[in-house]
Amino acid sequence: MRVLGIETSCDETALAIYGHPPGEDRQTARLYGHVLHSQIAMHADYGGVVPELASRDHVQKIWPLLDTLLDECELSAGDIDAVAYTAGPGLVGALMVGACFATAFAWARHLPVVRVHHMEGHLLAPMLDDPELKPPFVALLVSGGHSQLVAVHQAGEYELLGESLDDAAGEAFDKVAKMLELDYPGGPNVAKLADTGDRTALRFPRPMTDRPGLDMSFSGLKTFTRNVLAEGKASHADIAAAFQEAVVDSLVIKSRRAIEATGYRQLVVAGGVSANRRLRTVMDAAGRKAGFGIAYPRAEFCTDNGAMIALAGYRRAIEGEGRHNLEVLVTPRWPLASLMADSQT
Ligand code: KG4
Ligand code: ZN
Repeated sequence: MRVLGIETSCDETALAIYGHPPGEDRQTARLYGHVLHSQIAMHADYGGVVPELASRDHVQKIWPLLDTLLDECELSAGDIDAVAYTAGPGLVGALMVGACFATAFAWARHLPVVRVHHMEGHLLAPMLDDPELKPPFVALLVSGGHSQLVAVHQAGEYELLGESLDDAAGEAFDKVAKMLELDYPGGPNVAKLADTGDRTALRFPRPMTDRPGLDMSFSGLKTFTRNVLAEGKASHADIAAAFQEAVVDSLVIKSRRAIEATGYRQLVVAGGVSANRRLRTVMDAAGRKAGFGIAYPRAEFCTDNGAMIALAGYRRAIEGEGRHNLEVLVTPRWPLASLMADSQT
């Protein structure tokens, strides 16, 4: 069972093949290969993703990327047994490109189609390198669109424990980057600048950590940053370092609480912000102290990619999920916790 995974929910066109050859079983499942085209340069002039441009670019890149992927994997279209695509959440036009492509490809070759939830893809990404990683665990999902703590009770069974009430962590990084006149996407650039600053020179608040609960908030940090900048006393590097430290501390405090609340001993940190090195350092120290393990995806699979969608699709395809019809379905707003109820067959 080899699954072609297609990701087009935002500004990356990404495809991958995950699975095992005929005659073998899931023990030997692996990533055959993955390809990605990032639209970052195209959107940089606008300081953020322009949805219409994103959709048009996906249309242009998706076919050539499939050819490149098959070449790299030394496979042909006939070696694909199922097609998985990101059905949501994401930008509706961008999602539609992957959905139409996946549905048409599968229809032409009489293959089943599996709809994948983008955040399920993110939280499974560490399993691409660590197949032994299994539920139950707590997942901290931190991307440009989401900041969530999710209890993964068993495969495919998710409970939302807490989430950001305003901006996602990555969104806050991106907005602060703009204030500091750094290029889009801001997260990696703020992190780079923070490395040159003194993280103790300024003290930013740790929002919502002084009260119980697992919800988060990051928009106040943005306002705080704007005010500190307006004072004109601190260096941009010190501001970046203090901002990053505040986001990291908030995420670590909430994750520790989620571990305590569930009694689970394993944390998975995934999504674009999980690439942040300071977050990993502070989280690892907290894990060592409190005795829980932490798994991260490899750096290239923290941000959007096709490998995580192929893996999530494979796990569902081998359970028999997958539809043989021409229904092109996307769900731009799709709570992860509702996945169990949304029958896919
Ligand atoms: O998961 P992702 O690629 O896309 C979404 O699903 O949103 O996440 C992108 C987000 C962006 O906001 C980006 O600035 C942030 O992840 N990001 C980072 C880092 N690398 C990416 N934030 C902080 N530190 C990083 N090293
Ligand atoms: Zn994502």
